[in-house]
Amino acid sequence: MRSSMHWAVIAVACVSILLQSGCVAGQQLKYVEQFSKQPWQVFPGGRFKASTNSSMSATSMAGALFELKPGGVRELHWHNAAEWAMVLRGTCRATVLDEGKTHPTDTWDYTAGDVWYFPPNLPHSVVGLAPSGCLVLASYKSPDTNELKALSASGWLATLNVDTAALALGVPAGNAKRMLDKSRAQGRSQFIAQGPVQQLASQQPSLPVKRTKAVHRFSLAKNKYPVGPDGSYVNKADVATFPAATEMSGAILRLAPGGMRTLHWHPAADEWQYVINGTVEVGVFTAPGESITATIGPGDVGFAPVSSGHYVRNIGKDPAYLVLVFNNGVFTSIDVSNFLGAVPPSWLAAGLGISSDDARSINYRLAGLPGRPRPVQKKPEAAKKAGRKL
Ligand SMILES: *[C@@H]1O[C@H](CO)[C@@H](O)[C@H](O)[C@H]1NC(C)=O
Ligand SMILES: *[C@@H]1O[C@H](CO)[C@@H](O)[C@H](O)[C@H]1NC(C)=O
Repeated sequence: MRSSMHWAVIAVACVSILLQSGCVAGQQLKYVEQFSKQPWQVFPGGRFKASTNSSMSATSMAGALFELKPGGVRELHWHNAAEWAMVLRGTCRATVLDEGKTHPTDTWDYTAGDVWYFPPNLPHSVVGLAPSGCLVLASYKSPDTNELKALSASGWLATLNVDTAALALGVPAGNAKRMLDKSRAQGRSQFIAQGPVQQLASQQPSLPVKRTKAVHRFSLAKNKYPVGPDGSYVNKADVATFPAATEMSGAILRLAPGGMRTLHWHPAADEWQYVINGTVEVGVFTAPGESITATIGPGDVGFAPVSSGHYVRNIGKDPAYLVLVFNNGVFTSIDVSNFLGAVPPSWLAAGLGISSDDARSINYRLAGLPGRPRPVQKKPEAAKKAGRKL
């Protein structure tokens, strides 16, 4: 029932776009996707699904969900888009092979709330650990990255002839042939293969690796962040605190029931959103007469392009949690209430075509995460003061 309402809302929004701006069919904005309804692709060691620009009008970013069973191996692979991911549940071990001598490999365990950032084209691999494996939300700085098309070790080996493979792996031709035959027979199932749980967790690498510190891992749980009076917050990982993540950043947004991330935009980043739980209304404003309003729930995704006005409002009875990902290591925001408060109320009254009393009644301090919406009746004096200060 939520789903049919959801699409009804989008259909209405698109109609109003058509009516108001005359955009032609096929150019309708689709800034949300009911990703929760997209079927999983199932592999021996887990499952996977992707949201790209073929299913949503996300012009610069894409995303995916991976679920690895204990012992599930997302094989060694690489792609030319940066990857920012958050573990939503369980535990996994991820490794990334960096270039350079300081941290040749960066292998660490990740639990819920831990983030990884893998720069473009660096090979990485992830395994699910006991007892429950892990669920991972990944986001990419490219609109059409789908890991099913990523370059991988098995995919490359499958292209080699026996003699080349023997030379490359330093093994006799007979061994190389056996390996290639076996690997080719398994084909795509290596995308997420099933391995031996205990050995995966305890066996040492074949080459000595130098462990330094977790360059590519960041734990949101260790962050300090301001919490609103109702418990709403944004807990973020950006390049200031997570220096490896130069091209992407992200956050967990918690909204209490009735809470809202108020009207704002990002001057330097697109935003890709994933709803962990709760039900939210999202609105995106992209041009005069062009906007969408939609209701999305657990497992659904949304997108707000750079400079588009947007908001997220918790319309459910429970707290809502979203993962927000940005295609810039630094993300900055402009809040509409700050902007409105930056000019005298009379100026604003003229600009919006409203009475000066109404202009004075606006709560100019309502930036960011006000928590529960409450009709704040500020005294005109206080409002003026607030306005001046901003
Ligand atoms: C998706 O993005 C790619 C890369 O920018 C582009 O070539 C392709 O046309 C896009 N597809 C759609 C459906 O917009
Ligand atoms: C919603 O997700 C958050 C973050 O993962 C979690 O802490 C919370 O327990 C979840 N709430 C419910 C009702 O599952």
